[in-house]
Amino acid sequence: MSTQSQRTPGAPLLEVRNLVVEYGSGEHAYRAVDDVSFSIPAGGSLAVVGESGSGKSTIAKALVRLLKPTSGSVVLDGTDLATLGERQLRPLRHRIQMVFQDPYGSLDPHLSARDIVAEPMRARGERSGSARRKRAGELIDQVGLPASALDRKPHEFSGGQRQRIGIARALASDPEVLVLDEATSALDVSVQAQVLEILAELRRETGLTYLVISHNLGVVRAISEQVLVLRRGQVVEQGDTEELLTRPREEYTRQLRRSALDPALMSGRKPRDVVRAIAAARAAENQAAAQAVAS
Ligand SMILES: Nc1ncnc2c1ncn2[C@@H]1O[C@H](COP(=O)(O)OP(=O)(O)O)[C@@H](O)[C@H]1O
Ligand SMILES: [Mg+2]
Repeated sequence: MSTQSQRTPGAPLLEVRNLVVEYGSGEHAYRAVDDVSFSIPAGGSLAVVGESGSGKSTIAKALVRLLKPTSGSVVLDGTDLATLGERQLRPLRHRIQMVFQDPYGSLDPHLSARDIVAEPMRARGERSGSARRKRAGELIDQVGLPASALDRKPHEFSGGQRQRIGIARALASDPEVLVLDEATSALDVSVQAQVLEILAELRRETGLTYLVISHNLGVVRAISEQVLVLRRGQVVEQGDTEELLTRPREEYTRQLRRSALDPALMSGRKPRDVVRAIAAARAAENQAAAQAVAS
């Protein structure tokens, strides 16, 4: 993260221009992402929202180059990653890291949390085992887990704790951009709120840049000041999160808002309020469920 301090605050760190991603080729090609453009300033956060199948994960995979874009550019700090070959890409891959949705499938079950977090450091050439272990300890602490977590294996952790390990592992590569693809969607709402708090704090402390993918507008509001609405691979509208969710210009955004949200989640202005609202909504749900069972 050393490179960040030298950058002008607010200057675009990531610029995606006219991104097109097709699955298959020739007449069977399916265009999952169709001419998408956005930019994220260093230290900023942009959310991509849209219903299932709208192309959100495809954008994420193109950014971290799990997929090669069909056309368009993904410019990170002046370098277009979209067109680079694998060899030129390799030393740059660590700069954009992804946190996946599934906290159960994405961690190697045979490794301790320490080894999971230390592995990306080894891959990047950190030869000293003690340096790797020391850094793994710092990262585990940074995501709010106790030092005793280091010796445990994934099955010994809850979903929220596993997601914290996934975040620590992503941080171990010393990235500038984190792509969070539904990173909290599989979690209970109150646990989700805790992980969102950790992510918000991490960004404040380190100046990391986020691309947050979510179908949950409460999550988006809690963690991103900018939002882009995606439909069938195309941008419907984008802009300031508060502005766009309070006064959506497009009918599609209004529909998303109606289908996604408890009005209580929309009333908070600060991330913290929204996080609280999510937890409160879940508590109310649980209480209602308990009453239903009791009566
Ligand atoms: N490997 C693939 N091959 C063919 N089509 C795919 C593949 N992955 C995703 N798609 C299609 O691309 C579209 C966008 O998918 P995806 O990016 O996963 O959407 P989202 O993450 O918004 O749910 C969907 O119609 C999906 O069926
Ligand atoms: Mg997806």
